[in-house]
Amino acid sequence: MDETINVTIKSDTDIVLAREQGRALAEKLGFTQIEMTVIATAISEIARNIIEHANSGEIILCEHHNGVRHGIQIIATDQGPGIPDVNKAMQDDYSTGKGLGLGLPGSKRLMDEFDIQSTVGGGTVVVMRKWKYT
Ligand SMILES: Nc1ncnc2c1ncn2[C@@H]1O[C@H](COP(=O)(O)OP(=O)(O)O)[C@@H](O)[C@H]1O
Ligand SMILES: [Mg+2]
Repeated sequence: MDETINVTIKSDTDIVLAREQGRALAEKLGFTQIEMTVIATAISEIARNIIEHANSGEIILCEHHNGVRHGIQIIATDQGPGIPDVNKAMQDDYSTGKGLGLGLPGSKRLMDEFDIQSTVGGGTVVVMRKWKYT
């Protein structure tokens, strides 16, 4: 069984923890130093969104296979207010807070797969994957 790492996100220190755990798993899976940093950056942004926009949530890290490729999967879930217009939220520079509005679109660019599902009043789930090509 591939290991699954769950990190509860409720304070800034949890963002650092999720980032470090993601980096460590990426290293174990054989990603390069640069890829490790890219993965850690995307995890930070998505975890920060949980703190800033949803208050608390969870990051789940695991290895992922699709039959052809393998890589790392990061799931971020929260039961915060949700996002009324996901397309708008995915645009560069769009922020409802004090941020730069680059967290979601930037993370999408850093990863190979990026999916976001959000329900107003229900919460948000982000699934990101990066494949190992070697
Ligand atoms: N987990 C979340 N729950 C609720 N709203 C979110 C969440 N993540 C992102 N958002 C919304 O999407 C917008 C864009 O997110 P992002 O690109 O990370 O920019 P920023 O965090 O700098 O505002 C946020 O301003 C917020 O309105
Ligand atoms: Mg953000």
